[in-house]
Amino acid sequence: MRQLSVGVVGCGYWGPNLIRNFYENERVDLKYVCDLVPEKLAKLERRYPTVKTTVNYQDLLSDPELDAIVIATPVRTHFRLAQQALSANKHVLVEKPMCGSSAECAQLVALADERGLTLMVDHTFAYHGAVRTIKGAIERGELGEILYFDSVRINLGLFQSDVNVIWDLAPHDLSIMDYLLGQTPKTVHATGSCHAGNGIEDIAYITLNFDNNLIAHFNVSWLSPVKVRQMLIGGTKKMIAYDDLTPMEKIRIYDKGISISEPQNVDSSYVNSVSYRIGDMYSPVYDLTEALKVEVSHFVDCVLNGQKPITDGRSGLRIVRIMEAANLSLKTGQPQEIPTDGVASPIANQSFAPLETRSK
Ligand SMILES: NC(=O)c1ccc[n+]([C@@H]2O[C@H](COP(=O)([O-])OP(=O)(O)OC[C@H]3O[C@@H](n4cnc5c(N)ncnc54)[C@H](O)[C@@H]3O)[C@@H](O)[C@H]2O)c1
Repeated sequence: MRQLSVGVVGCGYWGPNLIRNFYENERVDLKYVCDLVPEKLAKLERRYPTVKTTVNYQDLLSDPELDAIVIATPVRTHFRLAQQALSANKHVLVEKPMCGSSAECAQLVALADERGLTLMVDHTFAYHGAVRTIKGAIERGELGEILYFDSVRINLGLFQSDVNVIWDLAPHDLSIMDYLLGQTPKTVHATGSCHAGNGIEDIAYITLNFDNNLIAHFNVSWLSPVKVRQMLIGGTKKMIAYDDLTPMEKIRIYDKGISISEPQNVDSSYVNSVSYRIGDMYSPVYDLTEALKVEVSHFVDCVLNGQKPITDGRSGLRIVRIMEAANLSLKTGQPQEIPTDGVASPIANQSFAPLETRSK
């Protein structure tokens, strides 16, 4: 079996999770870990004695045996490091958000296309068993036509000094939406406020409008006394409530909805008649495998078999475009159009083979 030779750059908070999952994948030879801070490498040397450590990213770029580079450094460095990796003919898995601007994302997509390399973004939740189960329900048409997507991700969070709460928290929810709905929003309207005196928004509300009356709303905050990670997805047939923090029944699928009957002439005025349907609720089982493990395996498949990643560079670009337009809306107070062009249209039915279902 051919093993993929991989190097991971960035060994801060998130990098070690990627390192562990790449190290444990039997189709991977984790060859390097790289960080500017030697103390971080020293800790990893004790845990992974067979892996080379280096403070010099150039060591990875110049190794002709290395197939792929995984980038888990701060967002402002993603573009330069990914561009160097692709230019050195390495496949790339880059952390979310893909880059600090859509122009940078588009350049990376073009470079990867030109060189026939895999470019994937770590939109971790797209690989979460619960999210993949919801995707299955949507693809089977169980929900009917999707009417709305509503998401809350709030807690007393770490106030960042370089990005606002949208760039910090919303990539997760936007990428879940992008994966589940496979549709690109037309406009965004964002409002928010800053309470730390530094001009960086710590609370934000984002509304996205799509064609066919679909609407999505996101509430992200670092200033909530309670931690909430909830989503509601409403369809014409059924509705889903997804609570990522509850230990049991994270996904609930409700056979609830409304029916509109023909307008009735009541006392010479026409009124619509809304009737309610209240049926059963069930909570499907889903795969409990760690999302990053599934994602790492998918990345390896994509590189070794030339598969297209479900969270490819184009999905990273779509998410960054939404956030850029949301930021502009925050500053101007006006709704903004979300640019689209050929490079970033969503892939219909983007999906990958389900893993075996495990019990909850
Ligand atoms: N997918 C997820 O759920 C998830 C969760 C947390 C963070 N992230 C993302 O992971 C990335 C890193 O976040 P973090 O919280 O781990 O940051 P961090 O600051 O804790 O770690 C970043 C590390 O990168 C190193 N570094 C910076 N520039 C470097 C360079 N040029 N060469 C080598 N090393 C360099 C730093 O020394 C540091 O150790 C961000 O893009 C973040 O958005 C993703």
